[in-house]
Amino acid sequence: MGNILAGKKGIIFGALDSQSIAWKVAERCVEEGAQIVLTNAPVAMRMGEINVLAEKCNAPVIGADATSLEDMQNLFQKSMEHFGGKVDFVLHSIGMSVNVRKGKAYTDLNYDWMQKTFDVSAISFHKMMQTMWKMDAISDWGSIVGLTYIAAQRVFPDYSEMAESKSLLESFARSFGYHYGDAKKVRVNTISQSPTMTTAGKGVKGFLDFFDYADKMSPLGNAPAEDCANYCVALFSDLTRFVTMQNLYHDGGFSNMGMNPKLIK
Ligand code: NAI
Repeated sequence: MGNILAGKKGIIFGALDSQSIAWKVAERCVEEGAQIVLTNAPVAMRMGEINVLAEKCNAPVIGADATSLEDMQNLFQKSMEHFGGKVDFVLHSIGMSVNVRKGKAYTDLNYDWMQKTFDVSAISFHKMMQTMWKMDAISDWGSIVGLTYIAAQRVFPDYSEMAESKSLLESFARSFGYHYGDAKKVRVNTISQSPTMTTAGKGVKGFLDFFDYADKMSPLGNAPAEDCANYCVALFSDLTRFVTMQNLYHDGGFSNMGMNPKLIK
């Protein structure tokens, strides 16, 4: 490819294993000439797979629970020390629903668990940006991307409280996008990705059938994780400097379909 991230430095949240979208993004960023730092929750890091990616990408791994402000500060501090300066891009690729994990019906949600879900899946995005803001950790014309899903706009019953998490995440991207754009020309966007075979994806009830349904409904088929990584690279690059405060569908056309004859047959 074209080395379009040459000289750029970024932080990638959320690479759990080789299926993770963040894993593919990390690989593509490095292929395009970026230097990166990898981060994940300490509990996820104990599984050890991230070290394989770290070696491949020649990247340090700095553990951080994305709900902890202390961990966030430590992450950005250490990353800036590592890079010898500010970062140019950040990927937030984090999602987890306690109620979904525990099989709770949407009409019987546990509110303590819901708070935890929102904290991990959405408020962490604000915490990440606010920490960077206070530490002046991102360069002018930098780029921040979060991953989301169309259940923020339309009803997908099995997605449960993750739908509201994603609505919140997308709203934080718009609101912080205003402040960051105005102050530092930094852009903030979300990518609304097709169903993807990952640990988080497969956690949703009936995921395999649903994956197939979305694949048939979308004229281009479901967008693979590798292509999502390409889209992230484009958004981190200087080719998209005036794209901000957007929710960008990367879904093979799914979001604009009403019906597809393929499914009726
Ligand atoms: P994944 O399971 O590989 O990644 C989720 C990551 O969140 C894991 O690395 C996990 O360790 C991390 N995480 C959970 N709690 C954390 C915490 N407290 N602090 C820091 N990190 C934490 O799954 P995937 O699919 O790659 O998910 C990445 C993003 O893409 C998520 O935001 C997800 O909602 C989104 N997405 C996924 C789709 C899918 O079908 N797989 C579709 C659309 C969006």
